[in-house]
Amino acid sequence: MTSIPSTMKALVAKGFSLDSLELADRPVPQPRRGEILIRVRAVSLNYRDLAVLTGTYIPNLPLPFVPASDACGTVVAIGEEVNRFAVGDRVTPIYTQGWHDGLPTPQQRSSRTLGAPLDGVLQTYIVVPAEDAVRAPDLLSDQEASTLPIAGLTAWSALAEGNVKPGDTVLVQGSGGVALFALQFAKAAGATVIATSSSDAKLEKMKVLGADIGINYRTTPEWEHAVKDVTGGRGADLIVETGGATLSQSLTATAFGGFVAVVGFVAGYNATIQLRQLIGPVVRVQGIAVGSRARFDAMNRAIAANNIRPVIDSTRDISDAVAAFKHMEGGSHFGKVVVTL
Ligand SMILES: NC(=O)c1ccc[n+]([C@@H]2O[C@H](COP(=O)([O-])OP(=O)(O)OC[C@H]3O[C@@H](n4cnc5c(N)ncnc54)[C@H](OP(=O)(O)O)[C@@H]3O)[C@@H](O)[C@H]2O)c1
Repeated sequence: MTSIPSTMKALVAKGFSLDSLELADRPVPQPRRGEILIRVRAVSLNYRDLAVLTGTYIPNLPLPFVPASDACGTVVAIGEEVNRFAVGDRVTPIYTQGWHDGLPTPQQRSSRTLGAPLDGVLQTYIVVPAEDAVRAPDLLSDQEASTLPIAGLTAWSALAEGNVKPGDTVLVQGSGGVALFALQFAKAAGATVIATSSSDAKLEKMKVLGADIGINYRTTPEWEHAVKDVTGGRGADLIVETGGATLSQSLTATAFGGFVAVVGFVAGYNATIQLRQLIGPVVRVQGIAVGSRARFDAMNRAIAANNIRPVIDSTRDISDAVAAFKHMEGGSHFGKVVVTL
């Protein structure tokens, strides 16, 4: 058994910019009753991390803080009364700590998320309650499993809330982390997938992953009509709305009785819609906030059953984490940007 040091490396934000990130030494935390100590091996970055680092996403976030939410590592010590895990188990902490099933409480949603307001995972060791982690799927590497807590689970929840079924048409917007997982899960569910992207090269890669139709939203800015055209006028049964400001276009692209899972805001936070886009076609629109531990377990079973491998764009060591953030900010990535520790 490897010994646990007394100090560790942590990536600390001392201000609200990527250039304020610094590696610092911190004491290794000790697990208390019901908690596990995890030696973090891989962290995947999310669009949210960039938003948090601007200082606008979570108002009045105290400095300094450790960013990032999604990690995979190995349990190296357990507190008293931990039966859920043993030393040596590979685990991923859940993003919304304490949300185990059903809906979270408002308090869990606003104050119990890893990577702000709770301390983030870009540090060599973290402690979480044993109840707030799940076992990593055996078929995935640490790096692959680190992509699941936000990007994977959000895509899974969007499709689960939309009751995806074989024969449905699912539209995913862009080639970001959530969209790629949604593509993979939708194909596993037997759906036809329409993908949009600003890049023809990325659309080709999405077709390799199983996308049936690709639409370039730069060269076809009115892509909602293209969606209607390629579906014979029906539209998409389920849309994973990562654009946000594109909601009105998505509603136009939705089939009668369809579902829009409102997930993100990469195109902007504000959208203007016509109420008749909802009423006449009886469209359901629902916000998605990642997902519960029960959903995480269900997703992991589907990943194992369907041999789904998360798409990794690139991997960098924690000493190069700022470059990893800047790479993601640049937008050329395809798949998840991962930091190893
Ligand atoms: N609600 C939740 O629970 C939840 C969970 C996770 C993420 N999110 C949010 O969902 C969004 C996506 O997150 P992510 O982690 O998947 O991001 P990401 O990996 O950084 O990907 C962003 C992608 O969005 C695409 N994009 C940019 N502008 C677009 C536009 N105008 N229309 C359509 N696509 C556009 C780009 O794809 P191309 O390069 O292919 O054009 C870009 O690669 C973010 O707003 C994030 O905060 C929400």
